[in-house]
Amino acid sequence: MKLTNFINGKWQEGEASYTAVLNPANGEQLAEVRMSTKEDVDAAVEAAVKAQKKWALVPAPKRADYLYEIGRLMKERKEHLAQVLTKEMGKVIEEGRGEVQEGIDMAFYMAGEGRRLFGETTPSELADKFAMSVRAPIGVVGLITPWNFPVAIATWKSFPALVAGNAFIWKPATETPMMAYEMAKIFEEVGLPSGVANVVFGSGSEVGTAMIEHKDVKVISFTGSTDTGSKVAELGGKHLKKISLEMGGKNAVIVMEDADLNLAVDGILWSAFGTAGQRCTACSRVIVHKDVKKELEKMLLERMEKLTIGDGMDETVKVGPVINKAALEKIHSYIQIGKEEGANLVVGGTILQDGDLAKGNYYAPTLFTDVKPDMRIAQEEIFGPVVSLIEVESLEEAIEVNNGVKFGLSSSIFSRDINKIFRAQRDLDTGIVYVNAGTTGAEIHLPFGGTKGTGNGHRDSGVAALDVYTEWKSIYIDYSGKLQRAQIDTE
Ligand code: UN1
Repeated sequence: MKLTNFINGKWQEGEASYTAVLNPANGEQLAEVRMSTKEDVDAAVEAAVKAQKKWALVPAPKRADYLYEIGRLMKERKEHLAQVLTKEMGKVIEEGRGEVQEGIDMAFYMAGEGRRLFGETTPSELADKFAMSVRAPIGVVGLITPWNFPVAIATWKSFPALVAGNAFIWKPATETPMMAYEMAKIFEEVGLPSGVANVVFGSGSEVGTAMIEHKDVKVISFTGSTDTGSKVAELGGKHLKKISLEMGGKNAVIVMEDADLNLAVDGILWSAFGTAGQRCTACSRVIVHKDVKKELEKMLLERMEKLTIGDGMDETVKVGPVINKAALEKIHSYIQIGKEEGANLVVGGTILQDGDLAKGNYYAPTLFTDVKPDMRIAQEEIFGPVVSLIEVESLEEAIEVNNGVKFGLSSSIFSRDINKIFRAQRDLDTGIVYVNAGTTGAEIHLPFGGTKGTGNGHRDSGVAALDVYTEWKSIYIDYSGKLQRAQIDTE
């Protein structure tokens, strides 16, 4: 199968270079994807500019009707989409289904926004004058999405963009283009006007750069690594673009001395090893009170040993492969770093090569103990199934350790003490806080994003996402029939 671009309502033809899409579970080739050029981006933007002008004039509830239809088709195809997702990305099928559901939820939620898109009406300081603010679309937006959530993250961005009256160019990650292809087919099927939704495949350096530099792309929404995100911001800043960034995390679960330890272990396993540790929200640090450290470590080890690892298409598997060989190597390099820093490798730390596992990219769930908060393994995003256990003596210290990293996406506390919980939710410096649950599991109707090095103040998902894709327009209507000067003619 050859995946080509969806531009102006058509599947782009013509000569191009293609690159292989591999199944991370077994190395088999799934498809080939077009590696587009700047010219392809230019064609997509040209179509989008034209289409957006008309799209913005379609009443928002009518725009929303397309989203209801997109949601309905996604629901109808949920199993198929989940299987495609698991094959190209590697996460286990149950999580694949969950991710598709996240996209379906987003479709219906944002469709509802078509009948809200609330602005404000407010009294004027002058007589016979009316004041209101409305959300206006921005124009053409560029979406750059990562491979770890090939569909959910794209829906967090594209659906609010659409309902608000924008057109978009979406560049999915080269590793996971098949979900974008499936979504483009859905955009075509629901009959979105040509040019409103465009998918352009290719590299960040070619396609991403061309999108950021294009004068007619007004907003760039990016999710990915902090390194790439800063480059996007730098280049975007030069071109005065609105840039929304969602980047790395170094998320922690805090386990206090009064926690339900069984529940904490459930939360840690799910957050640390789900999606093979490749969620931005993954738990990669466990900050544990000294009184329960030994017990928690023992319980964690027992449960880690039972984790089944393999191809995510197998319903009994709990931990799938990581995305590619480069990821395997990067994860593995941190094992040496951790050992050299003096951390204690308790279990894991190996690339798995037994039997069929050798064909895919499998990493053993790994636990380090005796980790100090300033070690690199406790500071840098590893993006794999590796967890560091850090011992603390108090809630204050736990919060300090949690906050002592350059990221601020998600955090979690397990405790049964309401006072500790309320203090923690106030003082944890992350965009998302969980109480008695792991660090993952964001729901689409709440804002998603983080503080510090995780982002630049914007949010995906929730109503907050609309702020990225709209401009506030303040409108004053004077019906007094005379010149009334604000701040002056107020008596
Ligand atoms: C991400 O890893 O970038 O809360 C997204 C979660 C998922 C989304 C994660 N609903 O883990």
